[in-house]
Amino acid sequence: MGTGRHPDYVLAVDPCRGDPGGRPHTGDPGGRPYTGNPGGRPPVRASASGKVILLGEHAVVYGRPAIAVPLSGLRATAILTPHPGPLRVQAPAVGIDAPLPDLPPDHPLARIVHLTVAHLRQTPPDALLRIESDIPVASGLGSGAAVSTAVVRALAAWYGVPLDPPTVSALVYEVERIYHGTPSGIDNTVIAHEQPVYFVRGRPPEPLPVGGVLHLLVADSGVPSQTREVVGDVRRRWEAEPARYEALFDRVAEEVEAARRAIARGNARALGERMDANHEILREIGVSAPVLDRLVEAARRAGALGAKLSGAGRGGNVVALVDPPAADRVEAALRTAGAARVWRTDVFQKPQRHEDTK
Ligand code: MEV
Repeated sequence: MGTGRHPDYVLAVDPCRGDPGGRPHTGDPGGRPYTGNPGGRPPVRASASGKVILLGEHAVVYGRPAIAVPLSGLRATAILTPHPGPLRVQAPAVGIDAPLPDLPPDHPLARIVHLTVAHLRQTPPDALLRIESDIPVASGLGSGAAVSTAVVRALAAWYGVPLDPPTVSALVYEVERIYHGTPSGIDNTVIAHEQPVYFVRGRPPEPLPVGGVLHLLVADSGVPSQTREVVGDVRRRWEAEPARYEALFDRVAEEVEAARRAIARGNARALGERMDANHEILREIGVSAPVLDRLVEAARRAGALGAKLSGAGRGGNVVALVDPPAADRVEAALRTAGAARVWRTDVFQKPQRHEDTK
């Protein structure tokens, strides 16, 4: 996946907010002249998308492949504004408004700031760092990784040092370890690259050829899911019954490989079948829940081509693949079955740009 190249994929999300591509920019977001800091530098603002795992969660922690796509319409944003030091961190959604030195060093926000400025060979700026996000927390949509990614991008822009997606991803991974314990790295990878990925732990992500538009509905069950706890529970089960769990993870890998081929051919029907099969294996792994099974079943009955839980499970969200004519019906069925929120997202491949080789 090229770093300086134009993304090969476009993701359209309804409703769409935030700056496409997450690129940092300076100045007032509303386009008005900046007057709050006469003679000083303008604010720096950067964002990062959420994500949804299409297939392969949990098995990916054990070296099997997985497929994930960004949710570009749901974003976390970091805004750095000049302010007398030390750096002050404001994250109203989680009740934080404190100078950086007052945060515990292992707090995820403190950690990503310290890691990033150390990487940039700088010190925390004299600034106010404000975090805003429309990604629900503990819902499996990558809220933590998106916040960290936005902070890295904002600090890099503040110091005028462009960081490529693999570097951003590696910094965010260090913080993911606080949230998750033993993360596979898929969340930070798909969010830092902001394009669909075929991912195997410990390897550079591979771009995912998309042969036809995929129409997805993502439904939040409204039940919080703590990834760290669910991943830890799966580990205990794997330790108790390694052969059984290795076999389950192998079956997930087969579904992921078949799904990858279906996506490349643009065969949504075949992809839907693989998603359904993956959900059944996740049930056997023990990470589904009645609320998730109910949403999955409602989506299928309303005409979805396939549906499954997405992310750690037990709560969080489900993802359904639909043909456009069925989208309204499936969305209504998900809401009737108890979905707190439903988002739509389309995944498709843009024509490759051919760079001038002269
Ligand atoms: C969490 O988004 C996905 C899991 O597979 C954990 C991980 O990959 O680190 C459950």
